[in-house]
Amino acid sequence: MIYEISNPVAKTLVNHLREKRTDALRFRHIVQELSRLLVYEALKHESMEDQTITTWQGEEAFGFIKEEDIVFVTILRAGLPMIEAVTALFPNASSGFLAMKRDENTHQSVLYYDRVPECKDKTVIIVDPMVATAGSLCDAITVIKNKLPKKIITLNIIGSPEGMEILEQKHPDIETYIAQIDETLNDNKFIVPGLGDAGDRSYNTFEPSS
Ligand code: PRP
Repeated sequence: MIYEISNPVAKTLVNHLREKRTDALRFRHIVQELSRLLVYEALKHESMEDQTITTWQGEEAFGFIKEEDIVFVTILRAGLPMIEAVTALFPNASSGFLAMKRDENTHQSVLYYDRVPECKDKTVIIVDPMVATAGSLCDAITVIKNKLPKKIITLNIIGSPEGMEILEQKHPDIETYIAQIDETLNDNKFIVPGLGDAGDRSYNTFEPSS
């Protein structure tokens, strides 16, 4: 299931990301803000468990999401601001990191680092801002599926219709929450109109010509 956020606040933030003059600090800040919005949406039906806490009036039980059952996984490097934002909301959740690089010529993603903790029977939430060809995300989902989680959710900022279709075909059993599905992919497999490369925008790593 793919769920695109329709909230105008989210759309406004995405459109600020498109602005070329939005600098890296604000870019990462907006990505973090959108990540929070996405995780609120993704977990809006999550069950809660009573935990006894000490309040100003003594001990009392209240409902909490079981953070220990959540594993956040990001794909380096553009996903780093996203995982910072969501783990700040759930400090007792664990985090995993995958590194993938999209080959600029073949447009295929290559996995070169896998540091993901135990996922068995847990809810794994994969965060990556961009779904262009969906190659990276589909490969990441396959890596996570092999770790036997209870459920997989992805949080993404922007995607192409082509990528969304591939994602749905390859992994119809996962849930995706995305802030914006754009018009298309260009010949270089960039999302159009898009926002450029989220990794480069976040960390000021541009080719001299761009
Ligand atoms: C970007 C982005 C996704 C991937 C999307 O990462 O963060 O992981 O591309 O493209 P795809 O859907 O066609 O696979 P990139 O490979 O540019 O690495 P980076 O995060 O280091 O910039």
